[in-house]
Amino acid sequence: MTQQLLACPAPAKLNLFLYVTGRRADGYHLLQTAFQLIDRCDTLDVEVRNDGQIIRTNDIPGVPAEADLIVRAARLLQKKTACPLGANLTLHKILPMGGGLGGGSSDAATTLMALNQLWHTGLSKTELMSLGLQLGADVPFFIFGENAFAEGVGEELQAIQTPERWFVVIEPGVQVPTPAIFSAKELTRDSKIVRIADFSSNAEMFWKNDLQTVACAMFPEVDEAVRWLSQFGNAKMTGSGSCVFCAFADESAADKVIAQMPERWTSWKAKALNRHPMDE
Ligand code: C5P
Repeated sequence: MTQQLLACPAPAKLNLFLYVTGRRADGYHLLQTAFQLIDRCDTLDVEVRNDGQIIRTNDIPGVPAEADLIVRAARLLQKKTACPLGANLTLHKILPMGGGLGGGSSDAATTLMALNQLWHTGLSKTELMSLGLQLGADVPFFIFGENAFAEGVGEELQAIQTPERWFVVIEPGVQVPTPAIFSAKELTRDSKIVRIADFSSNAEMFWKNDLQTVACAMFPEVDEAVRWLSQFGNAKMTGSGSCVFCAFADESAADKVIAQMPERWTSWKAKALNRHPMDE
C-alpha cells in the first residue's frame, strides 16, 4: 500500500475576468469570474503517519504551521472522516502569498486530494469541494480540476473550454490583503451579470476585474505593473492582486515580453492548462 505521495502539484490560477455583482448578508461578495489553471505550481510531499498527528515539516516564512491552510485542510478531512491516521506535509512554495494566484487555496486542495487517496477516506469530488469551501472560496475550484466559469462566492462552477495560450505574469512585490480590497468603500458591487453563453474564446480577455481599481489605488506597485504590461496587450490583475498578467498566443511572444521586463519585478511565463495535474 502506498504510504506517500511526492511532489503533488498545486497549480496557480488566473482570473480571466472578475465581476463583483453583489454582497451577501455575511459580508462575502457575489462574483462572476473565469478561473484558468496554469502550469506554475507549488508542490507538496505527503507521507502517512500512524499516530494521527498532522505535522508540517518545513518552515515557511510568514506562515506559521498552525495557521497554514494545508494543516487546516488535513485536520478538517481527518475530523470529517474520523480517520485515525496522520500525515507529514512538506510544502515547496514558489507561488507568492497575497498574489491573487490562489496559491494557499491550491495547496489546501492538493492536500485534501492527496490525503483522501492515501488515507482511503473515499470522499467524492463533490464532498471534497464542500469541505474545501470551509477553508476558502477558491478551494472548491482547484478540486473541481477544470477551467471554470464561477458564480456565487466562487463555488458554483461550470466547466469551460479556454484556448491554448501562454501568459506573462508579473509579481509586483507586494502582498495584497484580500479582505481590505473587498471591504473598500470605493469597490463597485453592481456589475451587470453576464451569461456563460457570452463567454467565448478570447472575449473574456476584454472583460475586466472589478477589484483592480481598488487594488491599484491602494498599491501603486500594482498600478505600475498594469501600465507597463498594457503596452503588450490587455493586461489585468488576477483575483484581488497583486499579480498582473497578459495573454499571448504563443510562447515566443511571451518570451519577448519577459526579455524586456524591468529588473525590479519577478516575472515568469506560464502555459494554460486544461486540467488539474493531479487528475492526469
Ligand atoms: O475565502 P477567502 O479566505 O479566500 O477570502 C478571504 C476574504 O476575502 C474573506 O474573508 C472576505 O473578506 C473576502 N471575500 C469576499 N467575497 C468572496 C471571496 C472573498 O468578500 N467571494
